Amino acid sequence: MPEITWELFDSQVAACGMCGLYQGIHHKVPGQGDIHAPLMLIGEGPGQVEDEEGLAFVGPAGQLLTRMLLAIGLPRDRVYICNIVKCRPPHNRVPTEEEAAACMLHLRMQVALVRPRVIVLLGSTAAKNTLGPEIRITRDRGQWFERKGVWMMPTFHPSALLRDPDKKREAWEDMQRLRDKLMELHLYDDLYGTGS
Ligand code: URA
Repeated sequence: MPEITWELFDSQVAACGMCGLYQGIHHKVPGQGDIHAPLMLIGEGPGQVEDEEGLAFVGPAGQLLTRMLLAIGLPRDRVYICNIVKCRPPHNRVPTEEEAAACMLHLRMQVALVRPRVIVLLGSTAAKNTLGPEIRITRDRGQWFERKGVWMMPTFHPSALLRDPDKKREAWEDMQRLRDKLMELHLYDDLYGTGS
């Protein structure tokens, strides 16, 4: 087994052709942010702007996500953000089970490298592919699941909030649950960069 490093991760994603999604994209979107962050956010897959720029969550949904994080005092560059699939599915369709499974190798490596204490799962695709296919986002959002010492919470995808602003109240409650969990785990200092 080669040692897991960011160099290995980058080259593995760059060379990846494990599913057909890489055909016709502009850029792969591995993810970005603080590689030592105690908080990781996982979305579904790159949209059009992300595909053009090679960066996760930089389009309209990403701008909303940035505001939501700031509302609980988290500067976005202090967290790590990535997606279930690293290549944009055509017409922003939901990635298939096979595509998500093929890309899981990369996500597992990211989690092993960042070693977050808390993971927020943005939307159904992120939640089902990490916690299990039985997860229902409307039923299970806002709940904490512990997996191998990592706290994971599904919540609505910011794109869903843009489509249906009535969901924003519940999304705000979830952000407060996130803030409470980070406080409970004494992680706010890490995220503000003021801790030891
Ligand atoms: N939606 C996602 O799930 N991820 C992105 O990076 C952008 C939009």
